[in-house]
Amino acid sequence: MRFRHVLSSVTLMVTLVLFSACDQKEVLTGDFSLVSPLPRMIASDEPIDSPMVISCRTFIGYPEGNDALRDAAEMLAQQLGYILGTPLRTVPSGKRSTGIRLRIDPELGAGLADFQQKECYRIMSDADGISIGGGSILGVLHGIQTLVKALLFPDAAGRCRFVLPAGTVFDYPEFPYRAFMLDCGRHFFPVEDVKHVIDILALHNLNYFHWHLSEDQGWRLEIKKYPRLTEVGSYRPGTRDPQDVLDGIPVSGFYTQDEAREIVRYAAERGITVIPEIDLPGHTTAALAAYPSLGCTGGPYEVANRYGVLDDVLCVGKDETMTFVKDVLAEVMDIFPSEYIHLGGDECPKVRWAECPDCQRKIRELGLRDNGNKTKEELLQSWFTSELEAYLAEHGRRMICWNDVLCDWGDHVVGEPSKRTVIAGWMRPASAAIAAREGYDAILCPVGHFYFSNATNNKLEGLDLIRSVYDVSVIPEGLTHEESRHILGAEACIWTERVADRSDLEWKLLPRLSTLAELQWSDPAAHDLDAYLLRLRHMTDLYRFRGWNARELILP
Ligand code: ACM
Ligand code: ZN
Repeated sequence: MRFRHVLSSVTLMVTLVLFSACDQKEVLTGDFSLVSPLPRMIASDEPIDSPMVISCRTFIGYPEGNDALRDAAEMLAQQLGYILGTPLRTVPSGKRSTGIRLRIDPELGAGLADFQQKECYRIMSDADGISIGGGSILGVLHGIQTLVKALLFPDAAGRCRFVLPAGTVFDYPEFPYRAFMLDCGRHFFPVEDVKHVIDILALHNLNYFHWHLSEDQGWRLEIKKYPRLTEVGSYRPGTRDPQDVLDGIPVSGFYTQDEAREIVRYAAERGITVIPEIDLPGHTTAALAAYPSLGCTGGPYEVANRYGVLDDVLCVGKDETMTFVKDVLAEVMDIFPSEYIHLGGDECPKVRWAECPDCQRKIRELGLRDNGNKTKEELLQSWFTSELEAYLAEHGRRMICWNDVLCDWGDHVVGEPSKRTVIAGWMRPASAAIAAREGYDAILCPVGHFYFSNATNNKLEGLDLIRSVYDVSVIPEGLTHEESRHILGAEACIWTERVADRSDLEWKLLPRLSTLAELQWSDPAAHDLDAYLLRLRHMTDLYRFRGWNARELILP
C-alpha cells in the first residue's frame, strides 16, 4: 500500500466512465479527499483498479446482538438510500456476504488520547468490501459520515452503483469538545427542526449540541414542579423591533420532558451529547413572569418583548431562589445525562441587587466587600454560581458558564468561579485565553467569529466569511503548552432574535459549520485554505443535494 494525503486525480470527481447495466449512466467514484472535515490519513492501494462496487444489492453487516451497531447500520443504509434511490438492506455479519461491515475495535486507537481512542475510525476498502471499524460506536458513526460524504455527489440521485477505490482512511479528532449552540428561547424551534440540526451536526463530526432553553423572551423546558414556567413563560404576544414597535406576532412553544428525552436519544444515536442550558441568574424575565416572588422587587413582570440585557434578574438573596434553581436542575439532570450542564451566567446587571434588602442581607451574611477589582454584587454572583457548581458536582456533573463569570469585555478578571467551572469564552478570543491562564478549562466561541447569527459577521461575503472562521486558531496565541491543554475545543452559536425558521437557520449555519468542523476535528498541521476550498465546494454541493438552504458564496 502506498500512502498519500490526496487520492490520485483518477478518483477526483466522477470521471470513471464505466457504463453500468442498470442505468447506462457513468458510475460515480467516491473520493475521501473531498470530505470535510479532512480525515487525517487517506491512503490508496496500488494498483488502483480494484475498487469496491456499492449498489442497491449491497448488504450492510453488523455483529449479531449489537444493537448500537445495528442502529448505525440502519442509519448508513438510509443515508446511502438517498443516493441509490432505495435504502440498502442490513443483516447480522456472517449471515450472508456483506459488502459493508461495521465493527468495534477497542485496540484501534492505541496510543491516542482517551477521547481520540473512542472517536477514531478506520475505513478499509477493496474489491471484496468495505469495513468501518471504530474505537467505540462513536468512531463507527464518524466513519459512516465520512463514507457518505465521500460518495454524495450533486448529480448522484438515481445512480444505482458507486465505486470506492481500494485504500484506507484512518482518522480521529483534534479536540474533545466540538459543539454548536442553538438558542430556542428567543424563537421556538419544533422538535423536528432540532432533530434536523442534530443531523447536520453529525454530518460534520460534532459531538455536542448545546441547547439554550431559557431566556427573557421564553422558557422552553417543561419543569413538573413549576408548571407556570411553561404555562406563562413560554408565550409572548409580540416582539419590539429596533424602533420599539411591537410586531404583534405571538411566539410560543416549549419542549415536554418526553420530547426533550427523545431529542437526547436521537442525538445519542448519532454520537452527540445534548448539553442543556438554563441561563442564570440573568436572562430570566420569563421565569420571573411565571414566579414573580423570585425577583428582587416582586414584580409584576412580563415575558420580555424586547431584546438586549434586562435589569430584572433572579434575586439571589432569597433562599427561595436557591431552592427553585436546585429543584429545576434536579429535573434537568434527570432528563439530560450529559456530564456538562450549562448555567449561563452572562449579562447579569447588578442594579436590582444593589437596591434589594434580601440581596444586601445575603452580602452581609457572606461578608462580601468591594475589593477594588470586584464589587460586592459581582462577588454575590460568584457565590451563587459556586453554590450551583458544587450542587452539580455532587451529582457528578460539570458546570459550563459564559466567560462573564470570570472576565469582562476589557479582559479584567471580575469573578472567581470555582476551578472546576468550564469557561465558554464568547466575548473575545482572549476570553478563553484568560480562563486557561487562570487554570480553568475553556471553550472558544468568540462572538466576532463563531456567532453565526451575528449581523456584522453575516455582512461578510465569499472568502471573507469563510476566513472569519478558518483563520481562527482554536488554541489562542501566547498560551504555554500547559495552558493550552485547558482549551477543550470550539463552539459556534446561533442566537435567534432574528432567526425564526429552519430555512434561515440553515442559511446561517451552512457552509460555515463545515469551516468550524475543520478547526474542531482536523489536524492543524494540514491547515490549507486552498485545499479546504475544494472540500467546501463538495460540501456545498452536498447541502444542495439534500435540499438545505446553504448560503451561496462566490469563491475564488
Ligand atoms: C452571550 O452571547 N450573551 C453569551
Ligand atoms: Zn434581591
